[in-house]
Amino acid sequence: MSLDSREFRNALGRFPTGVCVITANPEGHEPFGMTVNSFASVSLDPALVLWSLQNDSECFEAFEKADRYAVNILASDQIAMSNLYAKKGDHTLDKAHYTIGRHGTPLLRGALTSFECDIWARYPGGDHIILVGKVESMQNNAADNPLLFFSGKYRELR
Ligand SMILES: Cc1cc2nc3c(=O)[nH]c(=O)nc-3n(C[C@H](O)[C@H](O)[C@H](O)COP(=O)(O)O)c2cc1C
Repeated sequence: MSLDSREFRNALGRFPTGVCVITANPEGHEPFGMTVNSFASVSLDPALVLWSLQNDSECFEAFEKADRYAVNILASDQIAMSNLYAKKGDHTLDKAHYTIGRHGTPLLRGALTSFECDIWARYPGGDHIILVGKVESMQNNAADNPLLFFSGKYRELR
């Protein structure tokens, strides 16, 4: 069966998701971040999560070098941050936007929750690679209103 790719993309967009910024600071790279909505939970014991990365991303090589990353679940007031780290050309984290977590990864200030993960496995996934992470530490913050994404637009819980 051959699918129209635009139609397929639009149909996938009808699944409402949260928005995350994946952050990392592998050796030889400035701390950087990339906006994703492919985050999902995988396993409770061991504690595993996943997200998928486009093979042609500018960040691909840096994630290949990384042993770990952090998943930062964005709050509803972080649309500007989502747009900033979805921009091609420069994924370097603004110094004012992060702190370093217990496990050594950059954690975004103001995120709902951040998970620090060791990379557990990488699986091929067509034009993406699936990065499974083992959660080593997590931080819940005061914000509790998530940023949502649905049909190509940001949304908020009402
Ligand atoms: C809401 C949202 C969700 C996204 N989800 C993903 C994702 O799950 N995986 C991915 O590789 N890129 C995702 N992107 C695209 C990247 O954030 C970024 O725009 C793209 O990677 C830019 O190209 P570059 O990586 O070559 O700089 C998403 C962008 C937005 C705005």
